[in-house]
Amino acid sequence: MSVSILDLAAYKARGEKFVMLTAYDFPTAQILDEAGVPVLLVGDSLAQVVLGYDTTIPVSVDEMLHHTRAVARGARNALIVGDMPFGTYGGSVERGIENAIQFMKEGSAHAVKFEGPQMDLVEHLARIGVPVMAHLGLTPQSVHLFGGYKVQGRSEEQAENIVRWAKELEEAGAFSLVLECVPSDLAARITRALSIPTIGIGAGPDCDAQVLVINDLLGLTPGKAPKFVKRYANLRDEISEAAKRYADEVARGEYPGPEHSYS
Ligand code: KIV
Repeated sequence: MSVSILDLAAYKARGEKFVMLTAYDFPTAQILDEAGVPVLLVGDSLAQVVLGYDTTIPVSVDEMLHHTRAVARGARNALIVGDMPFGTYGGSVERGIENAIQFMKEGSAHAVKFEGPQMDLVEHLARIGVPVMAHLGLTPQSVHLFGGYKVQGRSEEQAENIVRWAKELEEAGAFSLVLECVPSDLAARITRALSIPTIGIGAGPDCDAQVLVINDLLGLTPGKAPKFVKRYANLRDEISEAAKRYADEVARGEYPGPEHSYS
């Protein structure tokens, strides 16, 4: 039986932490699924870490669906969450519903995620059977509104807004809430106040779950990582090293050897 939103609620009820990771392709989804990662988010971080855009803003529904389908083909057990791109859910509830349905029907996602206090859309989607993961704090699609990738919720006014929105999103029917780059004590307060699981990224240790972008965790992202990232591998260097060794061995005539050749 594959992971469902009820399993995530049960983790919280038992006080057991869980993880979500982003995935954008078939082989990574297979590996993470076999490793027992219960939730795979096809994040719109795809825009930056896979497609090379500067921000998440330009990625389209078609690009997201292409990768969501690949992840869904790779995962047998994990809950697949499709991330709705900028401009595809905020303006009109009708359009948001149409796009969310595309993620479920064409993308084979089990749930959708979108950013901000979109209570109306959450409520409509919950009513028609689309589970919604909400997302508050530093919501990257609003980078230009925030004036950069800055921690959110440091002022009392911001913090109170985030707490209120979190409660309203839960009431509207969201099954979980991503909290990105907010002070740890604010994330802890929200986690205590909600009965749905909170999933933190740069939100301290007290959320019910944690999420990282897989490219950050694997050390594939170049440059200095944000403070909250822990690199569990250094694949960028390993890939570069493997490519150089391959080129050197070909240049020296060592590869392909007899064991790699047909008679
Ligand atoms: O797009 C993404 O990868 C995300 C996570 C960072 C939560 O939204």
